[in-house]
Amino acid sequence: MFVQILGSAAGGGFPQWNCNCVNCVGFRDGSLRAQARTQSSIAISDDGVNWVLCNASPDIRAQLQGFAPMQPGRALRDTGISAIILMDSQIDHTTGLLSLREGCPHQVWCTDMVHEDLSTGFPLFTMLTHWNGGLNWNRIELDASFTIPACPNLRFTPLPLRSAAPPYSPHRFDPHPGDNIGLIVEDLRTGGKLFYAPGLGKVDAPLLEIMAASDCLLVDGTMWDDDEMQRRGVGTRTGREMGHLAQNGPGGMLQVLEHLPKQRKVLIHINNTNPILDEDSPERAELVRRNVEVAYDGMSIEL
Ligand code: MLT
Ligand code: MN
Ligand code: ZN
Repeated sequence: MFVQILGSAAGGGFPQWNCNCVNCVGFRDGSLRAQARTQSSIAISDDGVNWVLCNASPDIRAQLQGFAPMQPGRALRDTGISAIILMDSQIDHTTGLLSLREGCPHQVWCTDMVHEDLSTGFPLFTMLTHWNGGLNWNRIELDASFTIPACPNLRFTPLPLRSAAPPYSPHRFDPHPGDNIGLIVEDLRTGGKLFYAPGLGKVDAPLLEIMAASDCLLVDGTMWDDDEMQRRGVGTRTGREMGHLAQNGPGGMLQVLEHLPKQRKVLIHINNTNPILDEDSPERAELVRRNVEVAYDGMSIEL
């Protein structure tokens, strides 16, 4: 399977438009060696022609423009996007659907919980019905693998993950399984297995086993320190409160990944405050020592 990283940053992107943290300022004035990153989204395909978009970011227009297979040009109006999977109902993962309105109807796969949020607090499903039928909902059942007709050689298995529903969700303070999922994507021909979880708050023993059975881990790289927003003076919320396991510290993502020596390990959904964005930082050097990669926009992975 082909995995294309369209956007590797968390909500806000890097640099974030209104942010003057050391990373964002350093990038703008050229004193920081780092790459700009758009908001989190990947595309997956079994043939390089038909693509499943995982999450639709607010930056989707630039992301599609930057990856030629997304504009195959077989008809006057055309796209490489054959289906869309939503991992949650967060703004940075769903707002791009509005920019795809000219191509409706789209086949959208998501859980009951995400569909509910996107029909109430952030009613994208409802609004887009006015564009040629809008979004055709395909329900993701939490206990069942599914296939998507456009990519018949890929099997998708959802994993309900511990996280928080977004602020506009009707059950914001009452978390449900399916608010946020990870995915195992398996290529039935090559046997290649991807574990994708841009929002991962906790890794327990059963999940660790699932990760150990994957070839490539594309996982939550939002924050280095759980209290990074406070440290950098830009906010008060911790990674844990937002459903993101930080890399550093006891029980952090780096310690989790230590148990997985055989897998290719790639961090994605990097927040603009994260010191690993600075390619000369000691934190980045620590990742290199540990064989952990940092996803970048335009990165391709083949499994
Ligand atoms: C998150 O995953 O926590 C988001 O990036 C938050 C946001 O988009 O504001
Ligand atoms: Mn996010
Ligand atoms: Zn910043």
